[in-house]
Amino acid sequence: MAILVTGGAGYIGSHTCVEMLNAGLDIVVVDNFVNSSPESCDRVRRITGRDFPLEECDIRDEKKLSGIFDKYDIDSVIHFAGLKAVGESCVKPLEYYDNNINGTLVLLKVMRAHNVKTMVFSSSATVYGDKNTAPFNEEMETGKATNPYGTTKLFIEQILTDLAKADKEWSICLLRYFNPIGAHESGLIGEAPNGIPNNLMPYVAQVAVGKLKEVHVFGNDYPTPDGTGVRDYIHVVDLAKGHLAAIKRAKSVKGTEIFNLGTGKGVSVLDLINAFKKATGVDIPYTIEARRAGDVATSYADVSKANKILGWHAEKDVVDACRDSWHWQTQNPNGYNK
Ligand code: NAD
Ligand code: WQD
Repeated sequence: MAILVTGGAGYIGSHTCVEMLNAGLDIVVVDNFVNSSPESCDRVRRITGRDFPLEECDIRDEKKLSGIFDKYDIDSVIHFAGLKAVGESCVKPLEYYDNNINGTLVLLKVMRAHNVKTMVFSSSATVYGDKNTAPFNEEMETGKATNPYGTTKLFIEQILTDLAKADKEWSICLLRYFNPIGAHESGLIGEAPNGIPNNLMPYVAQVAVGKLKEVHVFGNDYPTPDGTGVRDYIHVVDLAKGHLAAIKRAKSVKGTEIFNLGTGKGVSVLDLINAFKKATGVDIPYTIEARRAGDVATSYADVSKANKILGWHAEKDVVDACRDSWHWQTQNPNGYNK
């Protein structure tokens, strides 16, 4: 029996593959490499010393995807495949709705046709919107997303919840990630954004290696301790381990369950810049700029549900994540394009 990992060549997917393989589980990776490279899967093989099938396939290609389900003995799916750039989703909403929502619908139809009814889905803290107050817990009403990317997460959560309500054989685990950062400690896999990074951590890492001049801090007039935005930065290896706990849980419990995956701690933009300096000794120049549209002041998780039910908690802190990002960035200044 194998777990199908859609988007398994990507940032979070590749780290999750390492944890699955190290736990002795079998996996099949499906990816169309729209935002990744098959090289990441070779690196995963190097880290774990284990082989696994990698199938190049767009999850919207029903025929091809169905063939993959025919070929392998798949019993569950971890579904990472999706487009994730917030700004780009505002420019290309149709592409985002098609890829993320249509992609998920095709995948679900193929799963149902093969009687595979267990899924762990990559959702996001963005579904809490801007009306809830941190720490966010899973009982809170989800908010209105400020961009099409966030809306795809809200819609997919609804689709999966409706499906599990209609057919009691489905087991769905919705994982709401907070802000994943860091890299595998080997320095072999990590985040490899195309072009100029949108997210804070890869931006800081590229300033540190001299690829970018300075960090632009988006606002220092938020109602937070130092005025800069506060987030819950979770090390990607901790996040990957959360998937191991979630897939075990989904295999034993029917219906829909939601879990926050975060550390439960808020860290400001300036805290993160300082942590990077502490971890690496590298000075990070920055300037204060205007707020970025769509940003909330403070976002961090209530992680008590994942602690209690999944028996999972984050073990690493932001200094660990900064050190590992730095290691990855210096070993691979051009990502997987050596
Ligand atoms: P990523 O872009 O590195 O990984 C996504 C992978 O999916 C890529 O390898 C991409 O090539 C693949 N993919 C995209 N569309 C596909 C399609 N139609 N068919 C097959 N493969 C396809 O992103 P990531 O950071 O690893 O994120 C993984 C998931 O987690 C995404 O669904 C993302 O929305 C979600 N998420 C990410 C974050 C974050 O900050 N990184 C936070 C919350 C949620
Ligand atoms: C973090 C903080 C910025 C860049 C995004 C998505 C979210 C989820 C995770 C997928 C904020 C500040 C940033 C910079 C800065 N993705 N910042 N200068 O916006 O919390 O979350 O990624 O689901 O949906 O919205 O993450 O890393 O972009 O920003 O000052 O150059 O850093 O204002 O306070 P965000 P981020």
